[in-house]
Formats: sequence, C-alpha cells, structure tokens
Amino acid sequence: MPTTAIAHPNIALLKYWGKQDGPGNRPATPSLSITLDALTTTTTVEDADADALRLDGRPVRDAKIERTLADWRRDYAIGPLAISSHNNFPTAAGLASSASGFAALATAIDAHCGLGLSDGERSALARRGSGSAARSIHGGFVALAAPDWRGEPVLAPDAWPLAVVVAITASEPKAVSSTEGMDHSKTTSPYFAAWTAAADADFEAMKAAVAHRDFDALAELAEASCLKMHALMLSSRPPLIYWRGATVECLRAVRELRAGGCRAFATVDAGPQVKAVCEPQDAERVEAALKNVPGVVSTLRSGLGGGARVADS
Ligand code: PMV
Repeated sequence: MPTTAIAHPNIALLKYWGKQDGPGNRPATPSLSITLDALTTTTTVEDADADALRLDGRPVRDAKIERTLADWRRDYAIGPLAISSHNNFPTAAGLASSASGFAALATAIDAHCGLGLSDGERSALARRGSGSAARSIHGGFVALAAPDWRGEPVLAPDAWPLAVVVAITASEPKAVSSTEGMDHSKTTSPYFAAWTAAADADFEAMKAAVAHRDFDALAELAEASCLKMHALMLSSRPPLIYWRGATVECLRAVRELRAGGCRAFATVDAGPQVKAVCEPQDAERVEAALKNVPGVVSTLRSGLGGGARVADS
C-alpha cells in the first residue's frame, strides 16, 4: 500500500544563511517562519525493487534527494522506494519547494516504514535534507534554533492569521543553490561574523513581536533580517545576486503601501520572488499593487497553514 503525505512551504521572516561545520545540516543562525496553506507538495512513497523518483509526473534523478536518502538510511531501516512528488507551484524558483518537499518526504517515509518518529525527530530528519524543511513539519509560526535545531511551533496559524502575496518575477530554477550560496557567503563575506553575532538578539526580538502580535515590530525586524541576508549575499566574492530589477521595484511598492497606511512588509529568499506579508484585509490591495509592477509575471495569494501530515486515504 502506498503512503501519501502533504506539506506546505514556509517563508522565513527571520532568515538563516550559513551552516555549522560538521554533520547534521545544522544552521549557523536561528530562524522563524510562517507556513503557507495555498502552496502544497504531495508525496507518495511505495515499496519498490530499487529507488525511483518522479517529480511532477516525470522520472528524474536528483542528487540532493539521493544523498539525503543515503544519509537517512545510515540511521533508519528504509527499504528501496518509488517516490512520486507533486508541487502545485513552480519548483525551485525561490518558493521553498525543498522545505515542503523534504518535510513531505520525511513524513511519508516515517509513516510508510513504521519509524515511529516524534514530531521533533521528524523535523530533525527533514532538516538533514534541507534546513528550512525542519520548519515545515509544523504550521503557523515556527522557530528553528539551538540547541536541538528542530522546528518548534510558536503560534498556531489561526492565532494570528496573516496573509502572504507572492510576486513571481522569474520562474527558472536559481543558478546557485542555497547550500552552495551559504557556504560561499560564510567563507567570503566580510559581514558573516557580524551576521552570526547579532542573530540571537534578532531571534529574541522577533519571538517577542510574534508573542505580542505586534505587526509593526514584526515588519521592521523581518525586513531588516531579509536585507541583512542579502547584504551577505551581495558582499560575497564573487557576489550572489538573486534579485531581478522587478524584485527591487516590488520592495519599493511594498514600502510605498506601508507609507500609505497599509500594514504590509516584504521579504525575499534565495531567489527573485518577493513575498509580501500583510493583514488579510489588505491582501487585495497589496496584490493589485504588486501585479502593477513591471516585470511581475504573476502573483499568488496564501494564508497560513498547518504542518506536514499523512493524507487521508
Ligand atoms: O535550508 P534551505 O537550503 O532551504 O535554505 C533556506 C534559505 C533561506 O530560505 C534563504 C532562508 C531560510 O531561513 O529559509
């Protein structure tokens, strides 16, 4: 019998960029994210004679997934599997498909192979595939921090139901993966030490903003974290420039909206898409403004969603 799990991408409001040395794929800095509901990865696993992977219906080889399965098998009894995964959104275009992908895969394998993992253990397993995947095990606001580096739920999705508008400015896969990019920034950016030195204080400030549902503080901290991360990328040698022209114009549009009284702020990950976070009553206005920015190909809207789970059969 096949087993199917679903998971949603998450967007970090406090970013991690850079990994610790050693095994386990542990981030160098804490992070805090929101899990989305409208974007979904659905992954089915089934016993097979040899591993086989299909992504969005096509048979593929994926070195990261193959490496991760080999790593998981060092600790868990996981037999050969036919894995079929489908995203209802563009893959590898800066929409965190690796977060939902590894969260869904860890959840499906845990159930299918009877590993009996706790949420924390499943989060640690997902993290070994992709750091951000540790957070997609949970819904709503989720923290990922020392000492365990397992996703911890901070606030349920309906406790502060924010909305997210994604402006897609380019849909091809990114040229430099986040793993390579992080390693490059860690070894070449002169600002990396300052980034890690401030990380714990930034994390505490953001947790307090979330606990108080303080939108203005959250907006200020999230934009600062995003732009600090991009400053690391830009100051790497050679530089990592994930933005397009339209990315900058979207950032400007969101700042103008905020100056006009709209509660919205923007964040950008290792890609050219802009994610505007706002209160639900402002989502239509934010989406209309971003649609108008030259170079925006399309927009998506989402609320906050739940964690990774096995699908009902
Ligand atoms: O863990 P990865 O490889 O999915 O990298 C995540 C990198 C960022 O999205 C830019 C930051 C974050 O905290 O999610």
